[in-house]
Amino acid sequence: MNISIIGTGHVGLVTGACFAEVGNQVICVDNDEKKIATLKKGKMPIYEPHLEELVKKNVDEERLFFSTLIEEGVSKSSVIFIAVGTPPKENGEADLSSVEKVCSQIARNMKNYKLVVEKSTVPVQTGQWIKRLFNLHDSHRDFDIASNPEFLREGSAIHDFLNPDRIVIGVENEKAANILKELYSPIIKRSFDSSLKSSLVNHIPLLITDLQSAELIKHASNSFLAAKISFINAVADICERVGADVEKVAQGMGYDPRIGPAFLKAGVGFGGFCFPKDLQAFIQIAGKFNYDFCLLKEVEKINKDRPRRLVEKIKEALWVLKDKTIGILGLAFKPDTDDMRFAPSIEVINLLQKEKAKLKVYDPVAMDKAKMILEDVEYGKDPYQVADASNALVIVTEWNEFRDLDLAKIKGLLANPIIVDGRNIFDPVKMKKLGFIYKAMGR
Ligand code: UGA
Repeated sequence: MNISIIGTGHVGLVTGACFAEVGNQVICVDNDEKKIATLKKGKMPIYEPHLEELVKKNVDEERLFFSTLIEEGVSKSSVIFIAVGTPPKENGEADLSSVEKVCSQIARNMKNYKLVVEKSTVPVQTGQWIKRLFNLHDSHRDFDIASNPEFLREGSAIHDFLNPDRIVIGVENEKAANILKELYSPIIKRSFDSSLKSSLVNHIPLLITDLQSAELIKHASNSFLAAKISFINAVADICERVGADVEKVAQGMGYDPRIGPAFLKAGVGFGGFCFPKDLQAFIQIAGKFNYDFCLLKEVEKINKDRPRRLVEKIKEALWVLKDKTIGILGLAFKPDTDDMRFAPSIEVINLLQKEKAKLKVYDPVAMDKAKMILEDVEYGKDPYQVADASNALVIVTEWNEFRDLDLAKIKGLLANPIIVDGRNIFDPVKMKKLGFIYKAMGR
């Protein structure tokens, strides 16, 4: 199939590369000339494991192309995915101006039937707005709108795209459903093939719904996962007050298949460009339809308080923070990404700077991005340099590299043997034995 993807952010680029990988002709379009030039040179604008190889392979095999011109994407493809950003406005609502702009450009350039698919995370009823916009244009009117939310996670995006746990397609007629079913059939088939090898039949559910339901599935899924995290973080606070261990509580809860173990990791809270903004956008769109989503407001409130809770622990260990040097390990909002958007580290650093602490920081891949955001911090070349002469070491992102640290060496380097662990990566008993003052979240 000939497809185009408008927007080469995390979702757009991964979607384009993966659809090319399964045999389609794909044009990835972005109005950011610098980004397209970078991609044409084979360089990735984001850090995502295996993305560079996949892009290179599909460019070399002439299935994947890059362009700055929407008209090129529209004229050369029958299916057009919209994967532009939907950042939050000041009031938390999703800013749909890029979606609208791109749709107008598509509408202006349509000369024959097109299936226009929303891949960006959008509030419910965006599909209806897009349809209205297309109908306002005098151009070709033979089109369908579909919603095909994406559930990939940064850091394992390629794997998630090619091995999805479900495919959701929101459509208004069978023609649109059949096009998308055909487009996804190699992915569904591949999963059958690979699972048959290990004699496990792993069926990928393909759910076909109306447009509104598909749109809601995305917001509801992300908000539910965020709610799980805030729930366990609230339990973590109670654990601290009563002398329980949140890791054990989560483990005990997770064995119940109705609860499941995932997303029950207590810590400094969730960040990134999905959960915080989707939660806000869901609260806003619910409010627009006269539903006060108090439950999600509380989820957000608990999460916003997590960096303060971590800083409180640093204060409990060090008392006055003014002029103390604090080493921060991990800046990205989670491991295996360089994404700093809404990263909890930003607020932790902000709160520590308000207390006039001096900061040394390190992240295995996010430091270049961090340099564009953080001020007055010293960057270490590795965790040991950050620990050297610091009064405390704080774990903010759980990179594997930190789990494998030589803790005896770290202890020798620190001015005070204090580790405040915002992600519960170490065993408290072992840390005590090693002679650390070790503070974790909910243990
Ligand atoms: C999330 C969803 O997991 C994807 O399914 C979805 O497609 C994506 O948003 C999106 O909407 O595009 P992502 O933001 O990449 O993916 O990251 P997650 O792995 O879900 O983690 C989000 C945040 O929650 C991170 O800051 C992580 O540290 C935190 N988290 C996660 C916890 O604090 N505890 C947990 O138990 C799990």
